[in-house]
Amino acid sequence: MITLSEVSKVYSSDVQIGPVSLTIPAGGVTTLVGPNGAGKSTLLTMIGRLLGIDEGVIEVAGYDVVKTSSKDLAKILSILRQENSFITRLTVRQLVGFGRYPHSHGRLTVEDEEAISKAIDFLDMRELEGRYLDQLSGGQRQRAYVAMVLAQDTEYVLLDEPLNNLDMKHSVQMMKHLRRAAEELGRTIVVVLHDLNFAAHYSDYICAVQDGAVVEFGTPAEIMEAEKLTRVFGTPVNVFAGPTGPIAVYY
Ligand SMILES: Nc1ncnc2c1ncn2[C@@H]1O[C@H](COP(=O)(O)OP(=O)(O)O)[C@@H](O)[C@H]1O
Ligand SMILES: [Mg+2]
Repeated sequence: MITLSEVSKVYSSDVQIGPVSLTIPAGGVTTLVGPNGAGKSTLLTMIGRLLGIDEGVIEVAGYDVVKTSSKDLAKILSILRQENSFITRLTVRQLVGFGRYPHSHGRLTVEDEEAISKAIDFLDMRELEGRYLDQLSGGQRQRAYVAMVLAQDTEYVLLDEPLNNLDMKHSVQMMKHLRRAAEELGRTIVVVLHDLNFAAHYSDYICAVQDGAVVEFGTPAEIMEAEKLTRVFGTPVNVFAGPTGPIAVYY
């Protein structure tokens, strides 16, 4: 379980995120949605202790993220940031190997190599593992970063817009893989997505963020309502009953 209690980040006198109180249940996929600038990345990076918290407390599996050492937290939580600056002279396999650092401290064991290979295979990157990052397309590089995060093998996985740059096939593969990680391995996945239909289809819970506040939290069936979505996104959204669940149309 992840709990945020009265958490806020004050960027300036006119930009403040929170105070937010929120409980993300353990297990399953929870998706953050909301307009640009709503505060999704701010919340995610505070949970992932990459950004300081100005007020309030965040706990992941009972660990206070501010008081727990990075070393201990890295064994239960991994995070993919929205923006990743990359070192060009690094191969895909070397990058994914960094995900094992909390376990190996730099000396990779057979078990680490297996975890690296597994993550590379999951992201369909076997043929690219020897390539340098600057020899990849944006989508391939994005998959390499996700592979690195998955190789960390943590119970909690936070991913900020992991579908950025991905084509349809790889977006579907990624979401299916995240679902499987939640269902079969009991992982807790927290993800930021822009596509409402992906969010509705693959999530257990959807959390809508708007103007630095959590304005809706519920199951896809509860959130996928035209009026709510229109309000959150500030643009007309219709919802229709599709064969596998609600479908949002917003063009
Ligand atoms: N480092 C920063 N300094 C000042 N303002 C920031 C900084 N990072 C983000 N913001 C502002 O905080 C708000 C929320 O940003 P962010 O969390 O990135 O939103 P989202 O991920 O939902 O698009 C935006 O108004 C953004 O301009
Ligand atoms: Mg963001």
